[in-house]
Order: sequence, then structure tokens, then C-alpha cells
Amino acid sequence: MKAVVLGTAAGGGVPQWNCACGPCTAVRAGVLPARTQDAVAVSGNGVDWWLVNASPDIGAQLAATPALAPGPGPRDTPVRGVLLTDAELDHTLGLAVLRGAPGLRVHAPATVLHALAPTRAVLAAYGEWSWRPVEPERAFALTGGIEVTAFPVSGKRPRYAADPPAAGHWVVAYRFRDPATGGVLLYAPCLASWPAGFDALVAEADVVLLDGTFHAPSEMGAATGRPSGQAAMGHLPIAHSLPELRGHPATRRIYTHLNNTNPVLDPTSPEHAEVTGAGVEVVADGTVIDL
Ligand code: MLT
Ligand code: MN
Ligand code: ZN
Repeated sequence: MKAVVLGTAAGGGVPQWNCACGPCTAVRAGVLPARTQDAVAVSGNGVDWWLVNASPDIGAQLAATPALAPGPGPRDTPVRGVLLTDAELDHTLGLAVLRGAPGLRVHAPATVLHALAPTRAVLAAYGEWSWRPVEPERAFALTGGIEVTAFPVSGKRPRYAADPPAAGHWVVAYRFRDPATGGVLLYAPCLASWPAGFDALVAEADVVLLDGTFHAPSEMGAATGRPSGQAAMGHLPIAHSLPELRGHPATRRIYTHLNNTNPVLDPTSPEHAEVTGAGVEVVADGTVIDL
């Protein structure tokens, strides 16, 4: 299995168009690398690729990734579909960019599919896609030889979304497994807390891509303008997840969905040193992982 880390930033990216914070300014000055919004591409055979989350940056991410280039026919694409961890705009607005590609499959929790009803109605005019609800903890196969399982991790409802008619899970983590190699990738870019059972998932994974939105709990209130108690429910800060990750030195651990306020973006910061000192990585967009 191959995974390409297409983007590593939280909503807005780094730099964010309307933000003059330290890291955004440093990127504009060429001091730090730019980061596009969080997404991954996975393939079991190098031919059939699946996007996991579709940010508004998906066009640039596809263009920057040779394996995802169109072909061999003039309108062929190796992209078979999209899996969504949640319904947040930074993970779903890219679906509109992908319009017109016939026959894409979108796998997402039923709650997410419900929230996306208006988007789906718009996209239906551009081509027939298949929208498939993902059942928690029930493995299914993706074209190209990958087995995937969703694990509910959080009840964080997007600000724009209403509660669905039936109770459901707003956010899942995905475990991708290549039965041929035994390689396991765990992708959890939106984690409100360290859920029960998550230690076992991290322990059995070769690589985990984890929510690194904020470093300190206090950063959340400042970034969202909401009371930190309320905002704190959305993203477990690195200050709280790093001690958990320290318990899994055998797993390759990478933070993603980095908010532009996060001091970890600066490789000279003490926060970055603390993360890398624990053996946990902050990687560049475009990083390729073999599993
Ligand atoms: C999140 O990850 O919490 C959301 O993407 C926030 C947002 O809407 O920008
Ligand atoms: Mn987000
Ligand atoms: Zn900024």
C-alpha cells in the first residue's frame, strides 16, 4: 500500500488568505513551507487511488502528485473515489472541484452523507456518483486491494449542519490495511479526545496520521473566537495527545491538520523540539509512505 500525504494543514491552510499570524507571515516571507489542507491518497496497487478527504486544495494537490495524474485515456483518472472522515468544509468542499468525473464513489458515515445533502443535490447535475454509508467497525474493500474500517472518534458537528434525523457519528478515523503486505495506516485528523480503544488501534498500526490542529488548549479559543471549553471539544491539543503517543514508540507517528497558529509549524520552536524529541513527526505536503 502507498499513501501520499496530500495536505497537512487545518481549515484555511498555511498561509490562510485572511491571516497575518506568525506562521502565515513566515510562509509568505518564504521562511516556512506552505501547507495545503489536510488530505491523504491511498492505493493498494499503485493504479487505483482513493482520496481521503477532499479539501478546496484538491486541484493543486492532484496536480502536485504524479501518481494521481490523469490517463491513460484523455479523460481517465486513477482516482476511484473519496472517503470522508467528517462533513467539515475543509474536508468536503473539494468534492465540487471533482465534479464531472463520472462514477466516483464517496464513502462516509450516514450522518455526514445527510449533512452533505445540498452538496449532493448540486453535484448530481454534473455526473452520477455513488454515495455509500460507512458502517462503524465493519471492514470493506476498496478497488486496488485495500481493506478499510471506520472507527467513530468524535461527535463534533460542523457549525453549518443540523442534527440528523437518526443519531449517528459525526467523525470517524479510518484504518487502511493492505492484506498483501499486512501494512496498516491509521488516519485520524479530527480527534476530540483520546477515545476508548484508540491505544489498540495505534499499537497495531505501522503509521498513524493524527490530529495536530493545536498545540496548547488555550490556542483553540484564540483561533476560533469561541470559549475554549466549547472549542476544546473539537480537537485534542498536542499537549494532551503527545503523552499518549509516547506510549507507542514502535508506530510511526505523524501530526497532520496543523492549524496556522500552531507553534509546531516552526522547526526552531521548543514545541517542535518536544514533538520530534518524542519521536513524532511533522512532515511536508507530498510525503509518500510505503506500507
Ligand atoms: C475543524 O476542523 O474543526 C473545522 O474544519 C473548522 C472549520 O470549519 O474551519
Ligand atoms: Mn478541519
Ligand atoms: Zn495564520
